[in-house]
Amino acid sequence: MKYNRREFISFMGKAGLGAAIMPQFLISCGNTTTPNKGFNTFSEERLNQLKKLVLKGLAPSDKDDLLLANGLNYHTVIKWGDKINNEDTFGFNNDFTCFIPLDENNPKDGLLWVNHEYVNPLFVSGFKADVYENPLEHKTLEQVNKEMYNVGGSIVRIKEENGVWKVVKNDPYNRRITAKTPMKLNWDNPIKGAMTVIGTNSNCSGGITPWKTFITCEENYDGCFGETEYDENNEPKHRPSWLGWERFYNYPPEHYGWVVEVNPKDGTAQKHIALGRFAHECCTLYELKDKRVVAYTGDDKNSEHLYKFISSKPGSLKEGTLYVADTIKGKWLALDWENQPVLKSKFKDQTEVLIRTREAAKLIGATALNRPEDIEIDPITGNIFVTLTNNKPKGDFHGSILKIEEENGAFDALEFKAFTYKAGGEESGFSCPDNLAFDLSGNLWITSDMSGSSMNKENKPYMPFKNNSLFVIPRYGKDAGKVIRVASAPKDAELTGPWFSPDGKTLFLSVQHPGEQTKDLNNPTSRWPFDEDNIPKPSVVAITGGLIEKMNKLNKIEVSD
Ligand code: FEO
Ligand code: CA
Ligand code: CA
Repeated sequence: MKYNRREFISFMGKAGLGAAIMPQFLISCGNTTTPNKGFNTFSEERLNQLKKLVLKGLAPSDKDDLLLANGLNYHTVIKWGDKINNEDTFGFNNDFTCFIPLDENNPKDGLLWVNHEYVNPLFVSGFKADVYENPLEHKTLEQVNKEMYNVGGSIVRIKEENGVWKVVKNDPYNRRITAKTPMKLNWDNPIKGAMTVIGTNSNCSGGITPWKTFITCEENYDGCFGETEYDENNEPKHRPSWLGWERFYNYPPEHYGWVVEVNPKDGTAQKHIALGRFAHECCTLYELKDKRVVAYTGDDKNSEHLYKFISSKPGSLKEGTLYVADTIKGKWLALDWENQPVLKSKFKDQTEVLIRTREAAKLIGATALNRPEDIEIDPITGNIFVTLTNNKPKGDFHGSILKIEEENGAFDALEFKAFTYKAGGEESGFSCPDNLAFDLSGNLWITSDMSGSSMNKENKPYMPFKNNSLFVIPRYGKDAGKVIRVASAPKDAELTGPWFSPDGKTLFLSVQHPGEQTKDLNNPTSRWPFDEDNIPKPSVVAITGGLIEKMNKLNKIEVSD
């Protein structure tokens, strides 16, 4: 069946939704982080199927297991420490996942990218911080080296056979990117004297480029080599890291806190300076008709900001302008040294504006937000959804999801409207939203990230929610708009990196930091995934089953202009 744009709009029943604000999408990688052309839509029959779907969610649970709603199953694809080839092992605390098929016609064979965000030294290097008064003075070079190896990312070739995804051991594409992998800066000027820097770390969430490379974002980088902070006289001072790596490796903090792009085929990586430096949670890219790129990225720290880069040249993540959101006035404000006198008076050039993005954003009037985390583009409307996970000092314990409607639906617009789409709390049933994924039918999947130290604790606001979970908000039917819990994480864990396979039949998901509150390896707080080592291990799972297929069936209609 073929709809033209007018027929499509009336079919969707979106009164008042003019053609001008309809974006063009094609969900070519099973995930809306890859939109580029056409609409993601389905037949009337399919719509009726979706409307009839009844979902039975899970009750909150504090059980040490990965629990799934009826109609879903999982198997583990890869765990921390698994060998990926003769030299390398899978890193720790897996977060963002992204799957790219090697051949677009075969959705069952491809490359899985996985972020390794940070390490728990007790598990990874055996370093016990709590037995020393000045712990970092006791950490050894060998321990730091182990920790540096276990962050960054992994590329593994995976194949699905008989419903089970397996890693192809020793595949030539399998490789590790670590805190010691050299990578180039995509910029014309050196940063702290370097055009090539050592390693990536704090890789939280990410994205995919329209040209099918991986994007991995450096979030809490100050934990590794510290941070340079400036006093009222603009004098720099080093704030030490909690991991203490700078005691052995004198790498400038300014080399971290960037958006990093990794080529799946050869593992080469580059850091995109033009997108600014801060605690990047993720980066969600959209390719405009003229091949220029728009990239949304948020700074996950209390009262920090939401950013958008618009390239001035096709396919460039260097030439263009970085903007920051004023969500009150609905304006994208340019972080442009040349044309902003207030930036010219404080910073010596655009490179310094980008290195000290947070300070520059505040000077031009950016809105303080409650920790922007993941960002996804709605495949049906083109609206941008941003999780604001919480802001405890401001009394926001449960967070919310922000919806942004760009003016006239144009991703390169400089004005927008912002609304709260859904607030966390007992009434809605979720707290601390973190990662988002739209499936092929436009249902919205959400993971939560309540901190391990406050979950399941009496007298804390998180008690009713029990363990972190995966939720779905159905788009159609009697449950439309409700938040339904479909997976419950093992103890202390967070579910991260939801990513659908291109045929929509598998949801890849990371189980990050199970047993994080463990103080004694002989008595861990979790033993998931219950393997022979009997200790908790961060792992990537594949979730399959009838429910996922019913909700997320690939049944697209070709749409003409
Ligand atoms: Fe690593 Fe903002 O979560
Ligand atoms: Ca996150
Ligand atoms: Ca988080």
